[in-house]
Amino acid sequence: MKGILLAGGHGTRLHPLTHAVSKQLLPVYNKPMVYYPLSVLMLAGIRDILVITAPDQTELFRALLGDGEKLGISIEYAEQPEPNGIAEAFLIGAKHIGDDRVALVLGDNIFHGPNFPTLLRRHARHIDGCVLFGYGVKDPERYGVGEVDASGKLVDIAEKPAHPRSNLAITGLYLYDNDVVDIAGGLRPSARGELEITDVNRVYLERGKAQLVDLGRGFAWLDTGTHDSLLQAGQYVQVLEQRQGVRIACLEEIAFRMGFIDADACYRLGVEFGSSDYGEYLRGIATRET
Ligand code: TTP
Repeated sequence: MKGILLAGGHGTRLHPLTHAVSKQLLPVYNKPMVYYPLSVLMLAGIRDILVITAPDQTELFRALLGDGEKLGISIEYAEQPEPNGIAEAFLIGAKHIGDDRVALVLGDNIFHGPNFPTLLRRHARHIDGCVLFGYGVKDPERYGVGEVDASGKLVDIAEKPAHPRSNLAITGLYLYDNDVVDIAGGLRPSARGELEITDVNRVYLERGKAQLVDLGRGFAWLDTGTHDSLLQAGQYVQVLEQRQGVRIACLEEIAFRMGFIDADACYRLGVEFGSSDYGEYLRGIATRET
């Protein structure tokens, strides 16, 4: 399965923070935001990843993440000239996807919860159609909303409905079979001029091949699109990391635990981070677990 991390957009709600720098490069507590969605793809076992950025930001992302070799993965880059919609990722990434399946994650989405890696890997293994992840929120009218029947089957998807028929927001993580490339190719821009991911998902729904997995209330799906939500996401990470003594979305640790790199490589990465807490944490993991 291939991965696409969509990290374009203008981030207008975060101005002036995003005048010169992409939203997805801003800090969420102690790491750049893009680490969090990248960790999701890695935890799903995906090692072949395309990062899509705004044209003037590609070199910054490349300076941060490189070609992925240090993490035992491959990272390539592509540009989205304008934020023409989330579904454009499949057109920009068509060559990268090839004849494979694909996981798309939005660069500003943070997921954290029990057994998430297991859940991801279970769904990534068997895809026939698409798998969407729903999360109960108090303001579903701001999102794409999934309606499920009594048996939990997805029966409808509505984009920012005035009167939502459920509280399940569709999150920014989507798993698709290879049909997604053709489906995205057949889309027309919506009234707001975007290629809508909801339109892609509706095609799967009409084919009876869309599944919605409820992440459940013990889970955290965090927004980072406004100044308040960005700060709150950072505080969430800070509280959990300080309480538990573990790191959320530490890419080097995940690479090690997933078997993408060995303990020596993990230790060397820890040395590269010098005397920072982050470096010390990595060296500790590599030493303790060998
Ligand atoms: P949005 O929050 O819809 O847009 P934005 O990030 O530009 O922010 P704002 O609304 O403040 O202007 O985007 C959600 C995520 O999807 C975000 O990570 C950017 C990404 N995105 C793209 O990369 N390209 C696109 O065409 C769209 C619509 C979103």
